[in-house]
Amino acid sequence: MGQTNPVPYRAADFSHLRGLNGLSDQQIEVHLGLYQGYITNTNKLNEQIAELLKAGKGSTPEYAELNRALGFEYNGMILHEYYFGNLSSAGSEKPRSGSPTLAAIERTFGSWENWLTDFRSVGTMRGVGWVVTYQDPVTEQISNHWITLHQTGNPAGFKPLLVMDVWEHAFMIDYKPSERAKYIEAFFSNIDWNTVDQRLTSPSSVRPVGVTRVAV
Ligand SMILES: [Fe+2]
Repeated sequence: MGQTNPVPYRAADFSHLRGLNGLSDQQIEVHLGLYQGYITNTNKLNEQIAELLKAGKGSTPEYAELNRALGFEYNGMILHEYYFGNLSSAGSEKPRSGSPTLAAIERTFGSWENWLTDFRSVGTMRGVGWVVTYQDPVTEQISNHWITLHQTGNPAGFKPLLVMDVWEHAFMIDYKPSERAKYIEAFFSNIDWNTVDQRLTSPSSVRPVGVTRVAV
């Protein structure tokens, strides 16, 4: 994404993420620090790309590499915002009865349990990445997707509803690398389904609710 005058991103406020079930404050603190790194690197890459573009170096290998790196850093920043945004110490494993997300899941998967089995199965795939529940806004179908690293596998134009980080850094303070399933249990006890519902029902839910960015 070449821009000549990029507007810097800055971290959203996730100070509410304390006292989660099964995820320690220390774990969240470390993870928020990594999130900040993606913001810093996204801003740095955007500046470097803009400089090269202004210098007429848009066809250089360096320009191409910076753009490839941007896909990793930018999606790392955004996916973390969805992830932290759908966690709350007041969260719950399952949406309330009457939740539009629950209704959409049941329409697509036949039952909550079928969706849950699929989500957990994708979440325990080997590799480094994410599992994301999306809605195709055209068909209104719900689907769970594996995202490799941060940038490979995101379905263009779909709405992210529920985002779970399964990089080891998301749970390494509290769990062993082999205990990803325990981490997923903890994640499920902290889901803010109201936020997920808002993402589903918002006409243009392309960014986490409540997150705003201001030029520095
Ligand atoms: Fe992460």
